[in-house]
Amino acid sequence: MNFVITRHSSPTPEGARRKLLVEPGFGRIYTDHMVTMRWTPEAGWHDGQITPRAPFSIHPASHVLHYAQEIFEGLKAYRTDSGAIALFRPEMNAARFARSAERLAMPPLPPPVFIEALERLVQVDREWVPEGESSLYLNPFMFGNDPYLGARASLNYIFCVLALPVGHYFKAGARPLKVWVTETYARAAPGGTGAAKCGGNYAAALAASNEAVAHGCDHAVFLDAVEHRWVEELAGANIFFVMNDGTLLTPPLDGTILPGITRATIIELASAAGLPVRESRYAFNQWRSDAGSGRLREVFACGTGATVASIGEVASASGSFRIADGDPGPITARIKKALFDAQRGRTAERLEWLRFVA
Ligand SMILES: Cc1ncc(COP(=O)(O)O)c(C=O)c1O
Repeated sequence: MNFVITRHSSPTPEGARRKLLVEPGFGRIYTDHMVTMRWTPEAGWHDGQITPRAPFSIHPASHVLHYAQEIFEGLKAYRTDSGAIALFRPEMNAARFARSAERLAMPPLPPPVFIEALERLVQVDREWVPEGESSLYLNPFMFGNDPYLGARASLNYIFCVLALPVGHYFKAGARPLKVWVTETYARAAPGGTGAAKCGGNYAAALAASNEAVAHGCDHAVFLDAVEHRWVEELAGANIFFVMNDGTLLTPPLDGTILPGITRATIIELASAAGLPVRESRYAFNQWRSDAGSGRLREVFACGTGATVASIGEVASASGSFRIADGDPGPITARIKKALFDAQRGRTAERLEWLRFVA
């Protein structure tokens, strides 16, 4: 794809940009440019552009506004210690984006074009990649844009990538999370869209997030939709349990949870570090009794935004309990560091996970 680049005529001045990069928070600050591309049945994917970031103008009947035919991705560009910029395992996001597209009956974007779009944007907005613990979050998304009211797949699509410098995703920062296990709401059912990264899954999770906050918790944890028994994931992160024999346990990918790239990376890093990982179902009752008996030592959430976030306390309609003493545990800290080091190019044998942006 030949991306036509139109540079911003008055980009954010350097001083203002530097100030924004000190404490970027999450989800509020955007770089100066964006990627757009279009799909029509006649031309396929075409019209790749990098332009100054600007609002879309779409028809009020645009398909996405009524039928939610929308998918997205989330990955980061990191600055390594030497100042180089690298994307972390973007081919995994490209593959997941194509799978999400198929599930939502959308035209998949070829993975090389997806990666090229990210690289071009990062090149143009490279001064926005922060140092240290912060990073540049890349948000590729695609939506049906047919001005047609009728529940069939859209005939036109727009692909776009936004870039935003980010710090901590969870408001809790580095403090252990208190999670709410919802027994009212389910996020995804067998045969549904749980394994796809589509906006509708997030809309469906919001009531549970509100329920969690109303109970003084940071985030909701979902159980399976059939038996309301098996732990699945958070609205925006996967979950790991650390047992007292050093084994890690995480729910299996059986179609209702998002196959997290951080999850896959942690499984590889932990296995290589001699920590066995089991992908198996874990009942909420078992979670409670293992926390009580001391068999369960640590729990953490993980994701591109979340990184590795310790979970210290668990609440539900049937009461609350702590994980060990509620503080972040040593294995969580070890995994967090191994992940951080791999993302920042500090681990020689994991350099193949980085795609350097020239
Ligand atoms: C529902 C859900 N689960 C898991 C994850 C973690 O996925 P990843 O590690 O690819 O960011 C995310 C984050 O994007 C998510 O939204």
